[in-house]
Amino acid sequence: VNVGVFFGGVSVEHEVSVISALQAINAMDQDQYEPIPIYISKNKNWYTGEALLDIENYKNVDDLLKQCERIIITTNEQGRPVINRHTTGMFGKKFITNIDVAFPVIHGTYGEDGILQGFFELNSIPYVGCDVFSSAVGMDKVMMKQILRDSGVPILDYHWFYSTKWLNDQDALVEKIEQELNYPVIVKPANLGSSVGISKATNREELEEAVELAMEFATKIVVEKMVTNLKEVNCSVLGDYEEAESSVCEEVLSSTDILTYQDKYQSGGGNSKGGGASKGMESTNRKIPADMSDEMTSQVQQLAKDTFQILGCAGVSRIDFLIDQNSDAVYVNEINTIPGSLSFYLWEPTGKSFQQLTSDMIQIALK
Ligand code: DAL
Ligand code: MG
Repeated sequence: VNVGVFFGGVSVEHEVSVISALQAINAMDQDQYEPIPIYISKNKNWYTGEALLDIENYKNVDDLLKQCERIIITTNEQGRPVINRHTTGMFGKKFITNIDVAFPVIHGTYGEDGILQGFFELNSIPYVGCDVFSSAVGMDKVMMKQILRDSGVPILDYHWFYSTKWLNDQDALVEKIEQELNYPVIVKPANLGSSVGISKATNREELEEAVELAMEFATKIVVEKMVTNLKEVNCSVLGDYEEAESSVCEEVLSSTDILTYQDKYQSGGGNSKGGGASKGMESTNRKIPADMSDEMTSQVQQLAKDTFQILGCAGVSRIDFLIDQNSDAVYVNEINTIPGSLSFYLWEPTGKSFQQLTSDMIQIALK
């Protein structure tokens, strides 16, 4: 089975994607699956080649890409997806190989938000993970909240607006936020991962700064009520709308109020090349399993599964929770439909190896 592993991409999480994808490729059962690395560069060109498999090569991407072949993916006369060299046509070299299943391991914009999934649909390529709709909804914090709230899944109170509204009607918006949410609040771009552009505000001045920061990254902004005595817990789900199981829970330990991109990928003194992301998910301080009662663990696992299935997810996702330790209230914060390292570290304690996880994901895609 030829597995096209798509990674890199144009989002701010490019470097994280390289780590996650190479981890996944190394984990795959190579007797059963033939992984074909397909790297999407920051300027949206697609490449394949052996050199992509060595993480060291990403220290100099220009050199790396010279060793690779630029490709396009199209369908052949039978409607089967194939990888072509970029220079096809009458005099070009053509067919290289076919793809039986695509395995997108791209976080954020263009890879996790339904766009790449739409490409797979157009080209009749079976693909691992969420479909176009669930990917798109999972990436849009506002749409996600609306669907979850409508289904009775607990989420934090919030407001959202477009940046143009902020520019035209700032006073009214600020007033509404102050009245209905009260400080402190968290301000986020609606559609980014890895905590990029997120900040906290405890007064009007900070609110304005936080919104301006978020507006650098998105036109849609979310302001949420902040949980002050907070415990952050994540839980992964594997399956599809028919059948799904939850992993163990992890507790995310952070030095600051909000887990920043810095905390997640750049702390721990990793090398600065590749955004320090070569430490990958391991640089985040985490406790597995999370320190909480059996009862709360079951509640989180059930809510994770509900969230996954309500949104129509497939493959593996990671659902991130906020727990108010004053009231023990549990809130779904967000979903990552292509989680960092595919959440393998949450499955290993359940007895499922990373290899088995990748096999399960591919089998779900092919079922
Ligand atoms: N978006 C990153 C990779 C995560 O939260 O897993
Ligand atoms: Mg997250």
